[in-house]
Amino acid sequence: MNTKLFYFSGTGNSLAAARKIADQIGARNIDNIANFMGQKIEINEDIVGFVFPVYFQDMPEVVKEFVNKIEFKNNPYIFAIATCNGGPGFTLFNMDKILKYKGQKLSSGFTLTMPGNSVIMLDLTSSPEIQKERLRDSSIKIYNISKIVKNQLEVGIEGKYKIKTLEIYDFGAPKILQFLSDRLKGSIISFAVTKVYRAHKRFISSEKCTLCRTCQRICPENNIKVAEIVTWGSNCDLCLACFHWCPQKGIEIGNSTKNRIRYHHPDISLKDMTLR
Ligand SMILES: Cc1cc2nc3c(=O)[nH]c(=O)nc-3n(C[C@H](O)[C@H](O)[C@H](O)COP(=O)(O)O)c2cc1C
Repeated sequence: MNTKLFYFSGTGNSLAAARKIADQIGARNIDNIANFMGQKIEINEDIVGFVFPVYFQDMPEVVKEFVNKIEFKNNPYIFAIATCNGGPGFTLFNMDKILKYKGQKLSSGFTLTMPGNSVIMLDLTSSPEIQKERLRDSSIKIYNISKIVKNQLEVGIEGKYKIKTLEIYDFGAPKILQFLSDRLKGSIISFAVTKVYRAHKRFISSEKCTLCRTCQRICPENNIKVAEIVTWGSNCDLCLACFHWCPQKGIEIGNSTKNRIRYHHPDISLKDMTLR
């Protein structure tokens, strides 16, 4: 069976998960979505997997664009793993929708709770104890996912919003309100962070910066330039790779991130992240 895996990752959780899955299902073909920016891509494989983080209860924009541009040459078994901090929202259902426009579907969609990495406005990075616990539990879950994928089982999309589980809403008014508010939550937070707070405009290099260019190398969207100073362009998905991987902790987002912990997955190195 030909298998192709695609990942996108800011702090290594999704890359680590993609590698583990690849290892366990014997897939050798694994690519960074960041390498295909703006390109059309054809898929001929029998099994295709996507591993990426949840941003604002949805896919990162770059992942959405990528999936939108895929041309499927056959009808593969498609699976996805959305790594998250416990709130995947409608991410996988949104991916399924894009695939359906293309005459495909998400055969199996899994959520994987991993250490949180978001520090925008609120500090949602996980404590070292929670990190440890989640890394252990996620390894076990990846093992179970790999068994499902290997056998190409169609288990549907994980989450409380499965069409089947809509039964639990029973369409009483309060349940519908709950459903709608859950639907809107991600968009509201995204609007607050990107349009009101304008987080992508608030990246700064502090006095700790040594102009080492790590941020420039690691940015998956080639959005950072280092000359006499560090500058960020407008092509930012807020993956926070620059913030978390800076060896000097010399990048801040506005003035609320001072002293916040920097996180990256312990099995993933800077070199792994910058492989193109
Ligand atoms: C901008 C941003 C938004 C995020 N939004 C969510 C979210 O809505 N729900 C959630 O559970 N986790 C959210 N997270 C946490 C990440 O999805 C999670 O930590 C993920 O595993 C990071 O993967 P990576 O290390 O591959 O980048 C967000 C992270 C960032 C940077």
